[in-house]
Amino acid sequence: MSKVNDYIKAHKGQFLEELLELLRIPSISADKKFSADVQKAASFIKEKLLAAGIDSAELCETKGHPIVYGEKLIDSNAPTVLVYGHYDVQPADPYELWDSPPFEPVIKKTEIHPEGAIFARGACDDKGQMYMHIKAIEALIATDSLDCNVKFLIEGEEEVGSDNLEIFMEENKDRLSCDIVLVSDTGIIANDIPSITVGLRGLSYVEIEVTGPNRDLHSGLYGGAVPNPLNVLSEMLASLKDDNKHINIPGFYNDVDELSAEDRAAMAKAPFSEVDYKKSIGLKDVEGEIGFSTMERSSIRPTLDINGMWGGYTGEGAKTVIPSKAYAKVSMRLVPHQDPNKITALFKKYFESIAPASVTVKVTPHHGAMPAVTPTDSPAYQAAAQAMTDTFGKSPVPFRGGGSIPIVSSFEQILGSKTVLMGFGLDSDAIHSPNEHFGLFNFYKGIETIPLFYQYYAKSF
Ligand code: BES
Ligand code: MN
Ligand code: MN
Repeated sequence: MSKVNDYIKAHKGQFLEELLELLRIPSISADKKFSADVQKAASFIKEKLLAAGIDSAELCETKGHPIVYGEKLIDSNAPTVLVYGHYDVQPADPYELWDSPPFEPVIKKTEIHPEGAIFARGACDDKGQMYMHIKAIEALIATDSLDCNVKFLIEGEEEVGSDNLEIFMEENKDRLSCDIVLVSDTGIIANDIPSITVGLRGLSYVEIEVTGPNRDLHSGLYGGAVPNPLNVLSEMLASLKDDNKHINIPGFYNDVDELSAEDRAAMAKAPFSEVDYKKSIGLKDVEGEIGFSTMERSSIRPTLDINGMWGGYTGEGAKTVIPSKAYAKVSMRLVPHQDPNKITALFKKYFESIAPASVTVKVTPHHGAMPAVTPTDSPAYQAAAQAMTDTFGKSPVPFRGGGSIPIVSSFEQILGSKTVLMGFGLDSDAIHSPNEHFGLFNFYKGIETIPLFYQYYAKSF
């Protein structure tokens, strides 16, 4: 591996320059205005795969944004690793909360990243982490050290639910067949506490529209005598949780996989400081479902959160008005074995049933995601753990993550393949938020660790 490390050392500056170039492309999948940039990012990835020494790479068109597929097959007896990542990013707004423009990456030192971090939308989620894989493969190929077959599946619609990727996978099962899927789109607990994510939550997401009077009304002339959709919506949403922060929707918890006392005790051993947690997000106190720890609330328990709510007058000054309509977007994070379609249906039915007769309530489902768990007793997990032990000097802690990666459950369902979630980000990297960043330490640690994964995995095969 010293040849590989020498190659990485000699090309560090160039690797970083290339990532910065990718980060300058505003590949926001949710917003049609950026579709040319999404296309540009896809072409960039394809070119870099070819430059890394991959045999073939192409843009696969879908009904939405293109999927970049590339492969290097070295030996039919060697194991095949499918690398998944995404080149699309979340919208960058609110722009005014960024200290530097989201698509003009800059490197700055922070308390957590004393060697510097790259500030840009997508730096950590997932351009920076996905790019580590392309550079790791480049280093392996350049030094003649690659001993696995490798397939790259890099999509442009992860942040909008991966619907088209699922169709592509159904249609390309043979081409995508693999022994393991390797993904860096999650995080570690801290730079001195390596960890591997072994579970992801699922997602059910709905939009709500409440309609009251047929037009906005004067809140003096009509106030007190008519339903106010914003008041009604607030009351309805507030009623969805009881005093113990338990979700009231009938049947919501029916399929929840309750962890055994042993599993919960094992989880509690993972290093976690509630004081640091609160400090890092500027909170006086935490809150959540009674009877569960902060770590449990954010990983093994389902949630219900208002993600946005609007209506009426929100401009400057005061306007006295009762709005005709009120809106909200609500997410529910799901745990094994909850089914997003079932939960969305339960929500819709219950929410419409509690609507007062004075208003009309419409619930529209958005994309969802299945929860996923990954094994720790597999050769692939062991290879990842060994690789991280070598580069971090400590063995990684398995832990369940709170976020979702919609396609992970499809790898198992469609391809019959398990996934290893070997991510290198930190919760403090502010993904989806203003000032998203990715530590240079983390970027280079990833590039050094990934080649070791291939080495150990090939050996175990
Ligand atoms: N990479 C994240 C998910 C993530 C981050 C999982 C950190 C675990 C730790 C992914 O890009 C993401 O943001 N997923 C969305 C899914 C949704 C848009 C369908 C999410 O979790 O909100
Ligand atoms: Mn991601
Ligand atoms: Mn994301």
